[in-house]
Amino acid sequence: MVRQLSFTTLCFFINIYLIKAMPKKILITRVIPNIAYELLTEAGFEVIVWQGDEPMNQRKLIEQAKSVNALLSLGSNNLNQIFFDECAHLDVIAQFAVGYDNIDVTAATDAGIPVSNTPDVLSEATADVAFGLMIAVSRKMFYLHKTIGQGQWKKFEPLKNLGIELSGKTLGIFGMGRIGMVMAQRCQGAYKMNVIYHNRSRNEEAENLFGARYVSFEELLSESDVLSVHSVLSAETRGIFNKESFSKMKRNAIFINTSRGGVHNEEDLTEALRTKTIWGTGLDVTNPEPMLPSNPLLSMPNAAVLPHIGSATEEARYGMARLAAENIIEFYTHGKMITCVNPEALSILKDK
Ligand code: 8YV
Repeated sequence: MVRQLSFTTLCFFINIYLIKAMPKKILITRVIPNIAYELLTEAGFEVIVWQGDEPMNQRKLIEQAKSVNALLSLGSNNLNQIFFDECAHLDVIAQFAVGYDNIDVTAATDAGIPVSNTPDVLSEATADVAFGLMIAVSRKMFYLHKTIGQGQWKKFEPLKNLGIELSGKTLGIFGMGRIGMVMAQRCQGAYKMNVIYHNRSRNEEAENLFGARYVSFEELLSESDVLSVHSVLSAETRGIFNKESFSKMKRNAIFINTSRGGVHNEEDLTEALRTKTIWGTGLDVTNPEPMLPSNPLLSMPNAAVLPHIGSATEEARYGMARLAAENIIEFYTHGKMITCVNPEALSILKDK
């Protein structure tokens, strides 16, 4: 035990010495809040920030990654098997996002590369967008705002532009993680909504805090007045909200998605609105992104679309940059990460 402890302490000092003596090179793949650069350079790393306005294409990214030890990546980087075949030398990857569906985590693990993400720091910001979209859709706000500019506000209309109210309605959460919980809290506080949820596993905290009731996917579809998606995009969730699912929802239901556009089928969603199968939709994520200006959803009265701004607050983006940098520092100083998504790669690394 004593021998083991002193060996760990020795490794810690050797690591610190090595960082200072032979600085590890970190590539940040876009310009992000400067705190990441500051923390990494203060810790003794050599930091290269890709200055382009656009994400690098894969060829360029591989070329740049070949000359560094670690990557601070963004959701727009495609880190697939091809990337890991070429860049297995990387020590670690810290992603500047909570979602990491752009990373083939199995390939990263096989290459012995631990990957981290940025949970928690963007939950409030993203839930705000889901909550705001819900209200905007329920009162057709985005659409009616546009009609004023088109000269259509002429007189008071007793039977036109009617929305629906949210008080006491049922909120269905698909994916009761951190962001889903903040959304539930917002909806209960503002509208005393009943909360139901569907998840891979039960969330006891949500059940205790909000009286949230775990339901099957079928029940979630048939009972929700507002159905808000906060799940990851995976093989199981891709396209799960499709023609069949929309047909099982209430005719006055509002569908909100602030997670990933791939979770819903956009053509089926558009059709469900056109045929009044459901009442409205609020999307911060689309499929594909960016959404084309000609997309029919943009001119529909009961649709509100935003350009993937869930985490776009000063506070959230600062927190994301900080946490991503801290993950890299923690890795090189203690061999751990604060928010690692494939901890098994940390043990592989010991034998690297
Ligand atoms: C980012 C996001 O805007 O964190 C996520 O999963 O979708 C957003 O916060 C984007 O992915 C930046 O990398």
